[in-house]
Amino acid sequence: MMYSDKVLEHFYAPRNVGVLPNADGIGEYGDPKCGDVMKFYLIIEDNSILDVKFKAFGCGSAIASASIATELIKGKSLEQAWNITNKSVIEALDGLPSSKIHCSVLAEQTIHKAINNYRKSAGLDLWKDKYNNN
Ligand code: FES
Repeated sequence: MMYSDKVLEHFYAPRNVGVLPNADGIGEYGDPKCGDVMKFYLIIEDNSILDVKFKAFGCGSAIASASIATELIKGKSLEQAWNITNKSVIEALDGLPSSKIHCSVLAEQTIHKAINNYRKSAGLDLWKDKYNNN
């Protein structure tokens, strides 16, 4: 199995790892098949993601996917962040092996959980995605 330099770089030195105790939105999701779990913390102001941190109990591709996903959503509006798909994650990582595609999906789903967690607490309607987990 071949990993891109980008995947290895984000696995060995993941960005934005940690916890935001004052997070406005927290999302946690686990892949039922592999058992890996991801958690995203978002600070949201004026409909934009001001800060983001993550924790992951998962494989190397999950760590790399979460890491690059934090870079993709930071500073973005909620709408833009919601529309960042696992394909965006794979592209930003210069590819993932086919057996590791679901690791990027885990990042997308966990971001959706965190955004909807914020929307719920702010009294806003929840958004739906194609995974129907939200
Ligand atoms: Fe499950 Fe990577 S093997 S997220």
